[in-house]
Amino acid sequence: MVSRVIPVDSFDLVIFGGTGDLARRKILPGLFRRFRSGQMPAEARIIGAARSDMDDAGYRQMIREAIAEFGSEEKNDAGGIDAFLGRLHYVAIDATGDGGWSQLRDLMRDGVIRAFYFSVAPSLFGALAERLHQHGIADASSRIVVEKPFGRDLASAKALNATLAEHFDEGQIYRIDHYLGKETVQNLMAVRFGNVLFEPLWNSHYIDHIQITVAETVGVTGRGSYYDKSGAMRDMVQNHLMQLLCLIAMEPPSTYDADTVRDEKLKVIRALQPVEPHQIVRGQYEASQDGPSYRDDAENPRSFTESFLALKCHIANWRWAKVPFYIRTGKRMKARSSEIAVVFKDLGHTIFEGDTARHRNILSIRLQPNEGMDLQVTIKEPGPGGMRLVDVPLDMTFADALGPDREDAPDAYERLIMDVIRGNQTLFMRGDEVEAAWAWTDPIIEGWEARNDVPKLYDAGTAGPEDAMMLMHRDGRRWREIKG
Ligand code: BG6
Repeated sequence: MVSRVIPVDSFDLVIFGGTGDLARRKILPGLFRRFRSGQMPAEARIIGAARSDMDDAGYRQMIREAIAEFGSEEKNDAGGIDAFLGRLHYVAIDATGDGGWSQLRDLMRDGVIRAFYFSVAPSLFGALAERLHQHGIADASSRIVVEKPFGRDLASAKALNATLAEHFDEGQIYRIDHYLGKETVQNLMAVRFGNVLFEPLWNSHYIDHIQITVAETVGVTGRGSYYDKSGAMRDMVQNHLMQLLCLIAMEPPSTYDADTVRDEKLKVIRALQPVEPHQIVRGQYEASQDGPSYRDDAENPRSFTESFLALKCHIANWRWAKVPFYIRTGKRMKARSSEIAVVFKDLGHTIFEGDTARHRNILSIRLQPNEGMDLQVTIKEPGPGGMRLVDVPLDMTFADALGPDREDAPDAYERLIMDVIRGNQTLFMRGDEVEAAWAWTDPIIEGWEARNDVPKLYDAGTAGPEDAMMLMHRDGRRWREIKG
């Protein structure tokens, strides 16, 4: 694979929450990889800002340890690490007071891109935005990056959008959904809109249904206090799975441009039909031989939060009329596997004898691990015995097709941070998209709260509760197997 790293313009990136988990686990190791690849200009700077009292040397040491713990093969590049750490600074800052702000202002260089990563609780967004302006640190060309959770319902998301809008234009706000930074997720657009083969078939005339699965093997250990207030709906469905659904279902945008793409995604979300109670299955994992139960992990023995969610939904437009979308996600499932399967309809008429229903074309797009696609096609089983049909995959595993050497392929966070510096918002959620997504999920959540819905238990290490199977069986369909 040919490497095509294009350096971005010089920047000063301030990370509020620069000593936090996300900064140490993802942001800084990711930036180091961009630095090594030559994409981050040598003179660009990263300024960690947090409450703790620390100097540059202390921060550099902290990040050295973070790269050792969370980096991959790049952590062995001692010379590279020293050069990268030389780009780091630290300012102790009081987000809601005055401490540290003038020091931060003095550190910032003129004439380079200024970006501010708000890796802090959303309750601090307003205070940070206000102080950045008050102290003359941010201006009309600055960018801010915010993380999920972007609200916990429509009202709180609107309030957050309004707070940010007081200080920044929408064109300056980069709401991260890291799923959009994944290579294979971007590939959904490349596959749909870069090939003549699929688009003519991409509609209710040819597609029977679509399945989206994001299965994880991890539990919620260590993040129970956050997760228990969120559950799978708020943590995964409202954002990551919704984005996948949008990319699979949207109309072709007329250009690959941030607002044109996001306009089309927004139309999908707005066309989503309300979901009836019988179309939803919530689950919670039980203890198994290799781990504790959800309630133990979450340290809440009475929790009714869902660690698994499956639902069936419809998009009310011409393209997708009557095509069900089945989506599911869960923790502590049998394998880590994210896949989108586009299941095509049966043949209208067959000239062969036997059961044709079995022979369906299925396009499966594996997001992770083992990224790739395969298209299940029906062929003749070789050998004598008449015309017997068999399904085989036309397999395109990306590592086979493109070569395993993808060292310079950025991971989701790296890619997205570089897009912030480039000023490209295509892979970020616009405020109206986030609000529309909450407008769809709110009534679903309110519905199960009003019904006092109790999640169905499932054994850790399985495909989820039995009722989730029934969700499809009732329709004469079945989930794809979850395979790692
Ligand atoms: C996060 C969720 O946004 O995405 C986590 O908060 C989840 O609960 C994670 O585990 C999954 O991301 P990935 O990249 O590992 O699929």
